[in-house]
Amino acid sequence: MQFTFAHYQESADFLRTKLGDFQPKVAMVLGSGLGYLGDVVENPIVVPYGEIPHFKASTAPGHKGQLVFGTLAGKPVAVMQGRMHHYEGYSYEEVSYAVRVLRLLGCDTLFVTNAAGGVNWKFKAGDLMLITDQIKIFMESPLRGENLPEFGVRFPDSSYLYTPALQDLARQQARKLDMDLKEGVYMYFPGPQYETPAEVRMARLLGADAVGMSTVPEVITAAHCGMEVLGFTLVSNLAAGVLPQPLSEEEVLEAAAAAREKFSKLLLSCLEAL
Ligand code: HPA
Repeated sequence: MQFTFAHYQESADFLRTKLGDFQPKVAMVLGSGLGYLGDVVENPIVVPYGEIPHFKASTAPGHKGQLVFGTLAGKPVAVMQGRMHHYEGYSYEEVSYAVRVLRLLGCDTLFVTNAAGGVNWKFKAGDLMLITDQIKIFMESPLRGENLPEFGVRFPDSSYLYTPALQDLARQQARKLDMDLKEGVYMYFPGPQYETPAEVRMARLLGADAVGMSTVPEVITAAHCGMEVLGFTLVSNLAAGVLPQPLSEEEVLEAAAAAREKFSKLLLSCLEAL
């Protein structure tokens, strides 16, 4: 189905009834096993996705499926604890639906996080990567269908999807925290099966540093509606074929749990420095 502007407005109006005069500025999408930051939001207003008109459930492991509004590092935030993925059966429009709703609520910045497989030979499991750009070749766009001009133009520029000034801010904060922050290009694969070793070799040849099953649709949608974007990948494992061993979901969640402290430090310090 194609959503109209009225659908997005209906979702935003419903959320406004929960928020009173609270006005979020930074939307945060927390990926696999990274949702804990939503638990430390101050003065939280929690709204399960199931209560929000037109929202879909988040069924992936490690994804709670709720919005948490409140204050984090002194900033008014809207935290998505869990996201929707295409592999759950949702269209790309549905996957990125919430981004537009949060835009209508006043968010002008999006922080996205994910867990992904490391493709770059220099990466190791547990590394954090600043996303500098993305590659999408195996999916239709979340913007497919009639354009909604209330959000943006028909043919949006994609030269700076990840806001250069926010990338600089992240580099500065990593330096301040004496933290090793890798950088690279995130390439989207729809999943849910992990990539084959041949696909990973292809991704590397095409310029990817990490491969994953999320983020790309939300970032296209966010940039279309004029949001600034900062993205981080937790390299939860080396991608298929890099090491002579199979990948597992447990490995991904364990790596996310292990990186939790350093990841949250970096995110909070970026938020604070905004
Ligand atoms: N591939 C795709 N998605 C992922 C991976 C991976 O290796 N690890 C965590 N999410």
